[in-house]
Amino acid sequence: MRLVIKGPNRLQGRVEVSGSKNAVLPILAASLLCDGTTVVEGVPRLKDVAVMCGVLQHLSAKSTWKKDSIQVDTAQIRLEEVSEDLMRRMRASCLVLGPLLARFGRVRISQPGGCNIGSRPIDLHLKGLRLLGAEIKERSGYIMAEARKLTGAEIHLDFPSVGATENLMMAAVFASGTTVIGNAAKEPEIVDLQNFLNRAGAKIRGAGTQTIRIDGVKSLHGPMGHRVIPDRIEGGTHVVAAALAGEEVIVENIIPEHVGPLLAKLREAGVAFAIEGDAIRVLRQAEPKAVDIRTMPYPGFPTDLQPLMCVFLTVAKGTSVVTETVFENRFKHAGELSRMGADIRVEGRSVIIRGVRQLSGAHVVAPDLRAGAALVLAGLISENSTVIENVEHIDRGYEDLERKYQGLGALIERVVS
Ligand code: EPZ
Repeated sequence: MRLVIKGPNRLQGRVEVSGSKNAVLPILAASLLCDGTTVVEGVPRLKDVAVMCGVLQHLSAKSTWKKDSIQVDTAQIRLEEVSEDLMRRMRASCLVLGPLLARFGRVRISQPGGCNIGSRPIDLHLKGLRLLGAEIKERSGYIMAEARKLTGAEIHLDFPSVGATENLMMAAVFASGTTVIGNAAKEPEIVDLQNFLNRAGAKIRGAGTQTIRIDGVKSLHGPMGHRVIPDRIEGGTHVVAAALAGEEVIVENIIPEHVGPLLAKLREAGVAFAIEGDAIRVLRQAEPKAVDIRTMPYPGFPTDLQPLMCVFLTVAKGTSVVTETVFENRFKHAGELSRMGADIRVEGRSVIIRGVRQLSGAHVVAPDLRAGAALVLAGLISENSTVIENVEHIDRGYEDLERKYQGLGALIERVVS
């Protein structure tokens, strides 16, 4: 599967952001904790969501799509090992650890594979589960977790890991007493998970701050119609696309404060935009200026938007330094952008980018999800044609990306290779 883009393009009009992938995945995992039927609304049709539904089906929790909502029925749920194949297809499958341990007292999953952006261990997840009373055995390739009962504990995360915070929140919902998670991740997706769980009857407070408290309850009942938050990374991607190639673009269904760090950086670079409720109007740019960026856990600049901002900086005036502090190998887009005429070089945990006048189309390969989206933005502003291979990576996190950009006037087509 490939995308062909004829550039350069000027984008004009309105683009609507879909529901958040990184909110839906933990919430679908959390539905395993709930008796009865759960309905989640505003769900994007993404490969990663389909894989998570596959994991639920594997555990005999029936999931059915109706338009943009998913109904999960856990009446027939039974404990099953989450197979290596499912784990390999999506790392976020490890989010079933907490819910299955809480509900059944036992769970076996295969070690989640690393991926292109880093080794991505789950040692912080396991350390927290042990503190809650689980016995964890790691065999080659497998993780076995057992706990006759889980007891509330004080957990302090060495790093504000999003996944570890989510897994431990879910593991603690039935634990006796109170669990406190210190140095918790503060991402908006954690707040959405707390809101979902509390609607199901959990007693959680503090999500969005560095300390989350969970008081154990007896059971949860599936909420009928939890609408997930808009995808702040997809929304940020469109704001950067508009800043790069927009005449005037309105990005709709976005929560501006969730992309605050991005907006601050774009303002520093001289980009003009107006916040209009749940929309952001991005105006045609003069010549954007180079800025330095350092990715950090929320509310710092998000690592997921780092590749997209690198594209923006390849044609900004001046030299920028972008430092990636969250993942150890997230500059795979640099090589592909160089082939499109960018002056970008990796130096350890940073890239140095010197602005050039224009990129030029090339035949490139999407190395991972966000780097793939970055190549789409580069293709939009490049002269001549760009062909992007391995579009499957992009489909993991963006619903109908080419249709959305066609709607803004871009010459972009999907070609089955
Ligand atoms: C979530 O991944 C997101 N995925 C990622 O989005 C996002 O990049 C990341 O958070 C950071 O914001 C989902 O929500 C499904 P972490 P997660 O645990 O939970 C290290 C995308 O593009 N770490 O906060 O895996 C880890 O190796 C994806 O949508 C440990 O060392 O992120 C990484 O270097 C990519 N031990 C750093 O922490 C652990 O036990 C951040 O990981 C856990 C994490």
